[in-house]
Amino acid sequence: MTANAQQSAIGVFDSGVGGLTVLRAIRSQLPAEKLLYVADTAHAPYGERNPEYIVDRCVAVTRFLVQQDIKALVVACNTASVLAITQLREIVDIPVVGIEPAIKPAAKVTRSGVVGVLATSRTLQSPGVERLCELYGNNVEMILTPCPGLVEKIERAELNTPETRAMLEGFLSPMLDKGVDTIVLGCTHYPFVRQTIQDIVGNAVTVVEPGAAVARQLGHRLDKLSLRLPEESPDGRVTFFSTGQIGDVATVISALWGRAVSVRYLEGV
Ligand code: DGL
Repeated sequence: MTANAQQSAIGVFDSGVGGLTVLRAIRSQLPAEKLLYVADTAHAPYGERNPEYIVDRCVAVTRFLVQQDIKALVVACNTASVLAITQLREIVDIPVVGIEPAIKPAAKVTRSGVVGVLATSRTLQSPGVERLCELYGNNVEMILTPCPGLVEKIERAELNTPETRAMLEGFLSPMLDKGVDTIVLGCTHYPFVRQTIQDIVGNAVTVVEPGAAVARQLGHRLDKLSLRLPEESPDGRVTFFSTGQIGDVATVISALWGRAVSVRYLEGV
């Protein structure tokens, strides 16, 4: 980090477009900050890959972001956080904020005692999720449901298609049959289909996503180190990078971010 570290950007990454749901929360809570977003599209989805591969990708993307002189790193991907955050903290000397399925808050709010957790296979099989279930799953039935194929649909911005809805119904019906009243979105891609999920499960079911909590946590970490930019003159610049085919990625990122943005191709990362 440079001497005037406050002026440096915050690096945020995900396997693809999912981290935009976290970026959106950061943008709204920390409007003055410069943000760099990396979508590791050429290697997405992470969720079905082996842990070594995922850790290697996280290290490569983190090294790139650190070279851009960032003051903090946000791992806006549950799969990456549960598998790689320890290694990432070892290789950088800036605050690293991760994300994990919101099992603890869900266990607190459930009244039926049945909580559904939607996430990637890799996240659900991780020791981190096992630990969360052990710590907070007492007297709560946790229905861990991997969602193969869903990230691919969201990466193509197929949010409201009949196929995506049918896929979601397949994941959600078994947990509804068991009396779920709280559902955790344990993958940062899934908030993009939150409305469809809510339509399927009905308004009596609470859907929990931790994007805003991650942004708050980032704010606290910046404050502690006096790294937060004052909000008087919001810069608001977001720079997007991707390891994937830029034409397609730029179209999808623009659609999901809500305005036309240009995306820089990350070669060799
Ligand atoms: N968005 C990611 C997560 O939060 C990963 C999805 C994937 O690449 O499989 O887990």
